[in-house]
Amino acid sequence: MNTSHEKVALVTGANRGLGKEISQELCKKGYAVFMASRDIEKGREAVHELCGQGYEAIFLQLDVTDPVSVKNAYGAFSQKASHLDVLVNNAAILEEADRHVSICKLNIESLERTLKTNLIGPIMVIQDFLPFLEKSRMGARIINITSDLGSLSHMQDSYPAYSLSKTALHAMTRQFSAALVGKNIAVNCVNPGWVQTSMGGTGANRTPEKGAETTLWLATEAPQGETGKFWKDKREVPW
Ligand SMILES: NC(=O)c1ccc[n+]([C@@H]2O[C@H](COP(=O)([O-])OP(=O)(O)OC[C@H]3O[C@@H](n4cnc5c(N)ncnc54)[C@H](OP(=O)(O)O)[C@@H]3O)[C@@H](O)[C@H]2O)c1
Repeated sequence: MNTSHEKVALVTGANRGLGKEISQELCKKGYAVFMASRDIEKGREAVHELCGQGYEAIFLQLDVTDPVSVKNAYGAFSQKASHLDVLVNNAAILEEADRHVSICKLNIESLERTLKTNLIGPIMVIQDFLPFLEKSRMGARIINITSDLGSLSHMQDSYPAYSLSKTALHAMTRQFSAALVGKNIAVNCVNPGWVQTSMGGTGANRTPEKGAETTLWLATEAPQGETGKFWKDKREVPW
């Protein structure tokens, strides 16, 4: 089946949390949304839920840490769509062990796993899907979901692996933004705030809907010329 929608989006880590919410909101705005998930069952369940509401959501199996999985996802995508307008790099991990561990005691294997998922994964996804992003007729938009914890302006000795991965994601955003500015592809970072998901926990002060707002705005309404910036609540914030 080829998607009949003119507007096409891909969201990683879309089976739950913020990724699922962003997918649903993009569907509401008329996008065909490729919901990329590493787990087939959980991914199909989330897609089924949105399709049941009348939206065009399409399952894509994608483990962002596995280069073969990224290539296979590219192949599956190319069977159904001819271009990509919005790519949201949302999938990420925050390992429990990070919580109370100082960088002085940081487990290097945990750091490697975190960098693989939160930094190298998004880089591979952007690199592989570039040919489709370049075919966007309205100008493509890449949104990397980051965190306050990646901000150098108030960096502390906490959550070291996760924080380092998000700071590197900021630098990666600037690099891709500079590389793609001539191709009409905007690349930005969004801090969603503290959101009620399994990562954020039940004590978080934002609903997934609120957490998704700025990403939705950057994906659909913000001026195309806005690129290489770090956003929270639709405002540019310091790196
Ligand atoms: N929640 C917050 O308070 C908060 C605050 C700041 C930033 N963020 C950022 O917001 C984004 C979404 O987080 P969330 O709160 O929605 O977290 P979440 O509920 O833990 O969801 C994380 C998602 O990422 C997926 N994922 C993890 N590793 C993956 C891999 N190797 N390949 C593909 N998918 C993978 C998970 O899939 P599985 O179901 O298969 O594990 C899940 O779908 C992340 O980038 C996070 O860093 C969250």
